[in-house]
Amino acid sequence: MAAPALLVLYGSQTGTAQDTAERIGRQAQRRCFRVRVEALDSYDVAGLISEPLVVFVCSTTGQGEPPDNMKNFWRFLFRKSLPSTALCRLDCAVLGLGDSSYARFNFVAKKLHKRLMQLGANAIVPVGLGDDQHDLGPDAVIDPWLAEFWLRVREMYPLPAGWSAQSDDFLLPSRYVFDFLEATPDGPEKVAQRETPQPSRQHPFLARMVTNQRVTHPSHFQDVRLIEFDIGGSPIEFTAGDVVMISPRNSMENVDLFCRLLRLDPDQHFTLRSRDSAPLPTRLPQPCTVRHLVERYLDISCVPRRSIFELLAGFAASDLEDEKLREFASAQGQEELHDYCTRPRRTLLEVLQDFPHTTAALQVDYLLDLIPEMSPRAFSIASSLHAHPGRIHILLAVVQYKTRLHKPRQGLCSTWLASLDPQAGEQRVPLWVKKGGLTFPSDPEVPVVMVGPGTGVAPFRAAIQERVALGRRGNYLFFGCRQESRDFYFEAEWAELMKAQSLALFTAFSRDQEEKIYVQHRLREQGPLLWDLLVNNTGHLYIAGNAKLMPAAVTDALRAIFESAGGLSTSASEELLAKLERVGRFQSETWS
Ligand code: 2AM
Repeated sequence: MAAPALLVLYGSQTGTAQDTAERIGRQAQRRCFRVRVEALDSYDVAGLISEPLVVFVCSTTGQGEPPDNMKNFWRFLFRKSLPSTALCRLDCAVLGLGDSSYARFNFVAKKLHKRLMQLGANAIVPVGLGDDQHDLGPDAVIDPWLAEFWLRVREMYPLPAGWSAQSDDFLLPSRYVFDFLEATPDGPEKVAQRETPQPSRQHPFLARMVTNQRVTHPSHFQDVRLIEFDIGGSPIEFTAGDVVMISPRNSMENVDLFCRLLRLDPDQHFTLRSRDSAPLPTRLPQPCTVRHLVERYLDISCVPRRSIFELLAGFAASDLEDEKLREFASAQGQEELHDYCTRPRRTLLEVLQDFPHTTAALQVDYLLDLIPEMSPRAFSIASSLHAHPGRIHILLAVVQYKTRLHKPRQGLCSTWLASLDPQAGEQRVPLWVKKGGLTFPSDPEVPVVMVGPGTGVAPFRAAIQERVALGRRGNYLFFGCRQESRDFYFEAEWAELMKAQSLALFTAFSRDQEEKIYVQHRLREQGPLLWDLLVNNTGHLYIAGNAKLMPAAVTDALRAIFESAGGLSTSASEELLAKLERVGRFQSETWS
């Protein structure tokens, strides 16, 4: 008798939903299901009508949008032409991952669940609503939900006589096998630089770094870089508002430390074999060196999630380490795990150092089960092809922050990029571009008001360059920084554009005087002008920058302007903002 099939499909933006989906997949394997775990957009959605049992795990992004890797599926599922009985043979369960501090909490999971029901599917359990805001993390909701799910599933799909399920701490076989090569293969290790139609995550373009220049004063607290890439010879095209995706690399120091801890030779070559049907990672060359794998593929700086501890516990090599690892892997240990890892942002590499015996006992075949793939970082493109043909500029804040750990935390991608010196030799960076969240009007008569304090100005530099090249007037920029003399980047560029009357600039230097002056204060001072631009001239308004408090403060200022300069009531100004947002005349791109 064949094992029953179970499919886990996920839509994941930052990797949490994927991690949960893979955890569910492993639980299902131990319960004797034939399991596949796939991203929604990698799955051939037409097959859904003949699937018996599917678990959907989906996160909801800040604005209530589905994650990027389920957007095609989302469009397909909401086609009007789908018959209401399309999924009547499907048993399913939907698990959401969201954040209840956002208005549209778990919107994607709820909407997906409703739509599946409309299409005739049978829900095994009610939709699960994991919440990042929960004191003990999302697993505090997810674990009881899963327990209920497995209970119900077992009733519907009983174990055949003579079969037995494994317990949840049973160590499953690894997905891949490493075959180490005795000798070094001929020729250098090659990552295919293909003549592809469009560079993508699977086949990034290796762009040459042209400049890496600090744009804040050396005495300023923050190191911000203007980095320029040469994309000549690539088919890459973009417009203002688009983003460039960059795959980071681990530092040599961390790669060497990792190899020492696991007793691996970084220069040894291996080929990778899939144990069952798991596809081989296409980004890895075959054969590959251990160094290449660790430096470019394994996210050894990630903050480990529970599933990493579940797997590590399978190799525990001392009683003390065993006890601790099992605790972190258990439902009861989640608060302690949060304190140990999540809150201080302890990295996987640091965790491996804390569990040296277990780490030394880890079987190399499990590396890709244990460690997530490094995810690319998105940067707003800060230049236009009209002004800088064959180039991409980004504005990079070198991320450094303090936590309760002694060592300051560093942003992996920004630290790596900032460390590259194009003067010292050729530096190649793997990248590709993606449509961004901001779109600018094509009508030359429409004015644009852009609010971009700090590095938030990046997409607006691209928009201004593009619009000026196309002869579009009506460019209004509100820029904020701490001090005119220290972090007012692009000052000379703006001055030139103002002289040519191509730009109106309003600056807020927060620390050049006693009281704080922010962009929202400058907006309030320009109430009548803004009313005229945005309402009488059907202008567009954009906000970009730090997501913490600025966007809400700017929105408040706008509401106040609509009341004072436009004479609207509070509710009417509220409605006007909502309308502008709905029709795409008020857009924001914020990051934390
Ligand atoms: P501050 O650091 O002096 O508080 C770019 O980071 C600029 O944004 C800085 O001048 C910073 O000021 C300012 N900023 C900080 N909080 C802000 C907020 N809530 N609204 C608008 N600007 C803010």
